[in-house]
Amino acid sequence: MSVQTHIIGVGGYLPERILSNEELSTMVDTSDAWIRERTGITQRHIVSEGQQTSDLGAAAAQQALDDAGISIHDIDALLVATTTPDMIFPSTASIVQYKLGGKGFPAWDIQAVCSGFVYGLAQADGMMRSGMFKRVLLIGAESMSRIVDWTDRNTCVLFGDGSGAVVLEAVATDSKEGGVIGSVLHCDGSYRHLLMAEHRYGGNAPGEKVDFRVDAAGVAAIEMKGNEVFRMAVKKLGEVVGEVLEKHGIKQSDVDWLIPHQANIRILKATAKKMKMPEEYMALTVDQHANTSAASVPLALNHLYRQGKFKTGNILLLEAFAGGFAWGANLVRWSK
Ligand code: UT7
Repeated sequence: MSVQTHIIGVGGYLPERILSNEELSTMVDTSDAWIRERTGITQRHIVSEGQQTSDLGAAAAQQALDDAGISIHDIDALLVATTTPDMIFPSTASIVQYKLGGKGFPAWDIQAVCSGFVYGLAQADGMMRSGMFKRVLLIGAESMSRIVDWTDRNTCVLFGDGSGAVVLEAVATDSKEGGVIGSVLHCDGSYRHLLMAEHRYGGNAPGEKVDFRVDAAGVAAIEMKGNEVFRMAVKKLGEVVGEVLEKHGIKQSDVDWLIPHQANIRILKATAKKMKMPEEYMALTVDQHANTSAASVPLALNHLYRQGKFKTGNILLLEAFAGGFAWGANLVRWSK
């Protein structure tokens, strides 16, 4: 029996605390005008003390489960795309599973930074088509504020926290039309140094006493060569969008909704322009919550979904560019 992967539930969550450009301007040498003009961002959401990436993920996931009208006990695999896990191990996915009251089914993390959700959708789709899983909970969740250097104006204005989730279901192709059409993924590690958060492990050597009170997570901070990342993002996103359309025989003009990773409004607009896509058919949320890395694509999807924008049969194009560099795109025929 041939099956296709359908999105049957969508959810999103943003932490309560909002950090506006104005407030940020009191912390580093920047201004609301500069941030808006160069990035399109007006505010970002920040996790509260004690709130973990798994808490954000669980909140979005529960909304997606409710939206699908099913419970965690109906799920048979759980994936969390994150670059800010609660801890080195166990996986954030296993913690989310526990927090949602699930047990027994496999759960693991995906690390492709801002492309994590696009990678995750491709991975889940492949496994579901092979018959391995019937229902998968796919989550993108991030606490980027925890790995930002809040004294570096080049990067700290760009990121925010949040989560988005989808429930995926494998459905026989002869019983329902639509679902994930296909994906294209790429990575080129020769660019790894242009966007990274180097995590310096404790350097524990055999025989050494380790001070477990030292918080290892505190030493990683985002470093980025903004200009170079910008140029490559525009170039590679333009290419990958063309590639995924060509691979699946779909014309640019057939795409109803563009759901891009939300990093910088200028990058988003460049891709829309390349596709000759009117901007009102592009998800735009970067103004409200800045770059939420792996949470950004599902949050953008959730944003349009909650407004009732998608009609059955609509073609959605999801795309992202990330540290690595890792980038990719998915095509989905809306069927919910
Ligand atoms: O998630 C995927 C990965 N991330 C991205 O896709 C981000 C890609 N890069 C970008 O979005 C942009 O390159 C930035 C928003 C990071 C920077 O914009 P830009 O137009 O490339 O600015 P720039 O780096 O060329 O900097 C222009 C000036 C510099 O001053 P000088 O050297 O010209 O005097 C910066 O020091 O703007 C200065 N600047 C700031 N000024 C006020 C940099 N950050 C700030 C700031 N506020 N926050």
